[in-house]
Amino acid sequence: MLSLLTTTAGVGLALPWLAAAVVHTPTPPMGWNSYNYYNCYPNETIIKDNARGLVELGLSAVGYDVVTPDCGWPSKNRTADGQITWNPELFPSGFPALGEYLHGLGLKFGLYSGAGVWECTPDNGDATVGHEVEDAHTFAAWGGDALKYDNCWANIDTMIRFVDYNPSEKDPSVRFAAMSDALDSVNRSIVFSICQWGVGQDLGVWALKYGDTWRISNDIQDNWKSIWRIVNQAVPYVKHTGIGKYIDMDMLTVGLGALSYEEERFHFGMWAISKSPLVIGAPANASITSEESLAILSNKDVVALNQDLLGEQAQLIRRYTEEEYDIFAGNLSESRKVIGVANWSNSSKSVNIDLQLVGVQKSGNIRDVWAAKDLGQYEGAVKVDLKGHEAKLLILPVSAQLIYDVEPLYYPAATGILQGDAMSASCGGGCLPKGSKVTNMTVGSSVTFSNVSGGVLGGMKLIGIDYINYDVALASAWTNGTNTRNFTLSVNGGEPRRWSFPISGGDWYETGRLDVLLEGFHVGSVNELRVEAPGLDPGADLVGLAVYT
Ligand code: GLA
Repeated sequence: MLSLLTTTAGVGLALPWLAAAVVHTPTPPMGWNSYNYYNCYPNETIIKDNARGLVELGLSAVGYDVVTPDCGWPSKNRTADGQITWNPELFPSGFPALGEYLHGLGLKFGLYSGAGVWECTPDNGDATVGHEVEDAHTFAAWGGDALKYDNCWANIDTMIRFVDYNPSEKDPSVRFAAMSDALDSVNRSIVFSICQWGVGQDLGVWALKYGDTWRISNDIQDNWKSIWRIVNQAVPYVKHTGIGKYIDMDMLTVGLGALSYEEERFHFGMWAISKSPLVIGAPANASITSEESLAILSNKDVVALNQDLLGEQAQLIRRYTEEEYDIFAGNLSESRKVIGVANWSNSSKSVNIDLQLVGVQKSGNIRDVWAAKDLGQYEGAVKVDLKGHEAKLLILPVSAQLIYDVEPLYYPAATGILQGDAMSASCGGGCLPKGSKVTNMTVGSSVTFSNVSGGVLGGMKLIGIDYINYDVALASAWTNGTNTRNFTLSVNGGEPRRWSFPISGGDWYETGRLDVLLEGFHVGSVNELRVEAPGLDPGADLVGLAVYT
């Protein structure tokens, strides 16, 4: 069933864009941005003080080097010849001088504009749409090294809303492609960070063509539930990310005061292994930002996970919704893997991680990264103790990797018995592997599969649930948007168990798979498996079940 394969993890990865595109940032960018703490009120003193703070606190030496004044920097009007320009009251020395100042400190100059007519607050001045080539030249002439490119006032037809979650435009990529081309035309390498929040479909497909990084979500807020929302939105992008192409999970809230110590480590660690840019949002100032938070941001071993040369986003391997923890894993350079064990629960817990989950039978010395401790060698499983809201990061050297060579039996959802509002729908090639799905899984609706095989052993089985969830929290990000849909599964009338399904892809056709373990199978093709939308909110769309007997 399982075979051993000697591996050098990651070598030979197919990265189709590498052949053609210029890689501006081989590892995720790191830096500081004014927005999370100073909102749209940056000024010269603030930017210079924080830039010096990055150097003095040793943060720039750890890698945080791009300093970006976010919204609020430009003059309300362009110059007489149409150039975007800084607000001289806020930045009396001007932007070219600011660029020189930052470069003099060994830092990089990040600029902020947008693919709309104005910044998010129109009083803050113009954005760039329609001026792409001039602005790209201006930013280059000022010594710009990076550009965060936002999406406010983008619905040029109507101009009714500063943020439009249902725009009439067919293809948002056009506005971002225009700036990408303009930046390519200047004689300076400028890292291009798309900040389109994921409005509309297929962000992962188009953004990697134009951006070095791309924001996948609406803004992070300074609270714990933002972490759950954004992690659930990051999951499907493993299909699209790689060296020089990174998802942006938004600026860090570490040091802003709302998260506990464990939550700050959880947040930072998850952003690090997801290969998100690490952009500090707290002041680089030891009298404002706690020593603990600065120590988290300065943790070189966690930063090294983010800056690993393989650039691989860690993947959600298993979710245990009722037990409230997740296991993420990804390959690192030099034949290593990282495992992230994320305890979403308020309470502490001990979990046993089966190393087969991450394709490993026997590991060399496992390193607990936050504890900076070697745990020794493991065979089979490793036990991890977690505090409430702790995410443990483990590094494993991998000499021999297991591969599963078992073909699962497949049960398409449309072949089940549908109850409640559930109905089957076709979805062409989108919802692979079967081209059909069951949709409209309102609360209480269900799909029941009969004669499911329990193999020759029965007992516990691994089930790959193919599902579709594109219920993206844009407007609901501000309230309780979670980016999840829920199902319960029960075998042979047993106790239903619940799982939360993260976003699966770029539309209501793109399938994701969540692997779960279910107990209670009998031997042979005699089992009844019921998938139901529990009394929370609607379930995901169901494509089918892969049962590993
Ligand atoms: C949007 C972006 C934020 C920030 C603000 C500024 O909301 O997503 O990161 O730049 O605009 O107004």
